[in-house]
Amino acid sequence: MSEAIALNADFLKDELPGHDYSLIYLDIPYNTGRNFGQYEDSFDEDSYKKLLSSLFETIITHSNNTTIAIQCDWHSTHLVRLFGDGALGRRNYKNEIIWNYNSGGASKTGLSKKHDTIHVWQLGKATYNEIREPYPNKYGGKVADKLHPDGRVIQDVWNDIPTMSTTSKERSGYPTQKPTRLLDRIIKLYTNENDWILDFVCGSGTTAVSAIQNNRNVVIADKNPNAIEIARERIDNAQKP
Ligand SMILES: C[S@@+](CC[C@H](N)C(=O)[O-])C[C@H]1O[C@@H](n2cnc3c(N)ncnc32)[C@H](O)[C@@H]1O
Repeated sequence: MSEAIALNADFLKDELPGHDYSLIYLDIPYNTGRNFGQYEDSFDEDSYKKLLSSLFETIITHSNNTTIAIQCDWHSTHLVRLFGDGALGRRNYKNEIIWNYNSGGASKTGLSKKHDTIHVWQLGKATYNEIREPYPNKYGGKVADKLHPDGRVIQDVWNDIPTMSTTSKERSGYPTQKPTRLLDRIIKLYTNENDWILDFVCGSGTTAVSAIQNNRNVVIADKNPNAIEIARERIDNAQKP
């Protein structure tokens, strides 16, 4: 059975356990200016930059042959890229993944903002596993026979994974919970079975649930004790045979 360690820890102050992490995935505070109840997501520019700077220092401490995937949105994507390239090296930047989720609500004053960005850097001999998906219908019939039986290789814009619905069975009540399917894809792309994964801003522990379901080992941490309580319950359920 895969190992899952869940810690109530603040990465700005506390040390995190060392492993050979294949993937560090962080769905960071985006600086939306909102108070989500479970955590405050509002920083002035200086304190947000300090947060990012410490975040990348922590990442470097734990990276070797590692993929670093940082999820954010339009509020912070420019700073994440800037700080990330500075800390990890522009040449190690691999992809800007766009997760286009289809949620309701349309803006009347401009284009609706319906995507997150996942910035990916790879250090050393980091893993990349190709993932294929069925061809869209227009490639049906005879043409499809000549194409790869498993479909086409996925690209960097993902629009087939919906955001967490209000009625989803996975919903834990944590305000910024991400769908397990999103983490499944990231984990399969950048790790192999029995690898170690780190997420030190884990919220409700989606990374751990996906890691367990995909036979990976995981260390998760969050400074919010409620988040860790929710995450531990989700881990227990995921580990049930
Ligand atoms: C966007 S949420 C993560 C949501 C998560 N991906 C999920 O699926 O539930 C960001 C998390 O970062 C945590 N956080 C913010 N600052 C932190 C710090 N200094 N140390 C640890 N966790 C922190 C917050 O408590 C919050 O749970």
